[in-house]
Amino acid sequence: MRDPNIAKRTAAFAAADLVPDGATIGLGSGSTFAFVLERLAARMRDEGLDVRGAPTSSATAERARTLGIPLVSLDDVERLDLAIDGADEIDPNKQVIKGGGAAHTRERIVAAAADELVIIVGENKLVDVLGKAFRLPIEVLPFGWTHARRRIEATGCTTELRQRGGEPLLTDNGNWILDAAYPDGIPDPAALAATLDATVGIVDHGLFVDMVGRVVVADDEGRVRIQ
Ligand code: A5P
Repeated sequence: MRDPNIAKRTAAFAAADLVPDGATIGLGSGSTFAFVLERLAARMRDEGLDVRGAPTSSATAERARTLGIPLVSLDDVERLDLAIDGADEIDPNKQVIKGGGAAHTRERIVAAAADELVIIVGENKLVDVLGKAFRLPIEVLPFGWTHARRRIEATGCTTELRQRGGEPLLTDNGNWILDAAYPDGIPDPAALAATLDATVGIVDHGLFVDMVGRVVVADDEGRVRIQ
């Protein structure tokens, strides 16, 4: 049986190989990004690669520590050479939905501090229109969240509060996630992002508009392309 992780690993390894010696990079989150850490650790060991990373989640920080990858706090650096991260969906204009792992608020802050955001995906994440198959994650403050939900649903979606073990899932920031289903998808990501940016009670949403540089795409045969 074919390894279901081939596309993830191939894209992640190709992106990790783009990291230059001496770089300070943003470390994304999720199952695809986990392979970047593996490859960076191998390059440190085999090539003596000098790299340090600003993590986007406690899970990534923990994994990086285990692998011996040096970490920096984002506030201790002026900028990052690049950030590497996965995505839940990406459209032909390189607009992206993130947040399946509830880390998108920190992911955006880290990406914004980087000279370039490199996205790594398997081909299954490529879509024509965002939001048709994947719900948009929106991080909200628990305080007054039902009011935020009403405002969000006024943008044409239904929402579900993300749960874990019967309780609202807590982000690393101590907030909650609403997953928003748009029946026709999100044909104009920039317009929706602008509306959500202006909505009281939202901490951040998972629409990354005009933020992506290179996209590393791999298929299940282990073929990779950078676009
Ligand atoms: C984390 O909140 C997300 O933005 C991830 O980067 C995204 O969900 C991709 O995750 P996988 O690589 O696990 O699919």
